[in-house]
Amino acid sequence: MTKKVGLIGIGYIGTTIIQAIIEGKIENAEIQAVYDIDKEKVEKIKEEYPSIRIMSSITDFHDCSIIIECAIQEVVTQIFDVIVKSEKYFIPMSIGAFITFPDLYSKYQNLNEKQRSKILLPSGAIGGFDCIDTIKLVGIKNARIQTRKPNRSFRNNKFIESNNIKLSENSSVVLFEGNAKLATTYFPRSINVAARLALSTLGPEKTSVEIIADPSISRNIHTIEIESEVGKYNFIFENNPSPANPKTSWLAALSAIYTIKGI
Ligand SMILES: NC(=O)c1ccc[n+]([C@@H]2O[C@H](COP(=O)([O-])OP(=O)(O)OC[C@H]3O[C@@H](n4cnc5c(N)ncnc54)[C@H](O)[C@@H]3O)[C@@H](O)[C@H]2O)c1
Repeated sequence: MTKKVGLIGIGYIGTTIIQAIIEGKIENAEIQAVYDIDKEKVEKIKEEYPSIRIMSSITDFHDCSIIIECAIQEVVTQIFDVIVKSEKYFIPMSIGAFITFPDLYSKYQNLNEKQRSKILLPSGAIGGFDCIDTIKLVGIKNARIQTRKPNRSFRNNKFIESNNIKLSENSSVVLFEGNAKLATTYFPRSINVAARLALSTLGPEKTSVEIIADPSISRNIHTIEIESEVGKYNFIFENNPSPANPKTSWLAALSAIYTIKGI
């Protein structure tokens, strides 16, 4: 059966998904409908791909079987209830939303097994979830992620400005140490990975996060540590920025494509 994809947010990740589908890189998939608040982006899609339907509202995805959100966290809260009711597949990229908005987190936790099976959390800019899910059969004692990014990634961050933190051109600066809940609130654009890890391990309050600005690197580096009676596990991800958008790791867009392929 053809996978009819509805896509919300025609930015870097959205465009990468559209191209992959148009180029036939995902078997049996077509872009059915798209939505974006940016009218120029919508016009461009109309011109380039006249067969793609433009959604009249953010929940106008009746003819789609898979909805992908690649816009901003608020969109996840706006469409979540409608999607769960519709029993369509949902791939949210702005995963931080599940932690920024406590209501959404409890709704996600309270889904029944059938509903949960339709919400597909992409691994995003990290991975190792096959191992993590396996360890969970016994239990996880500690889950921690350290995110190290080049200084430029933190330009205009309000938390850094209001706490008068000075970035250095010569050495790393620890910007934040705390739990995933606080991390996603203060670093909403750069911390989807912490949210993803928290959702699969100890939850927003008990998953530890450290965020570091490092002037000596060009990649985003995520180091995950998991401790359990089963063993101790370290995963390191050194992500190149995507060729088209230096703010987003290439791996994140690929993970959306991989998730669609797996349905
Ligand atoms: N899960 C992960 O590991 C991971 C990794 C990278 C990015 N992300 C997240 O994925 C999302 C998309 O990333 P991107 O790099 O493509 O961003 P982008 O800025 O390139 O694109 C976002 C698009 O969403 C649109 N948009 C904004 N508000 C909207 C609204 N209310 N309704 C509809 N459209 C709206 C914008 O106009 C833009 O076209 C972001 O939230 C980002 O934080 C997640």
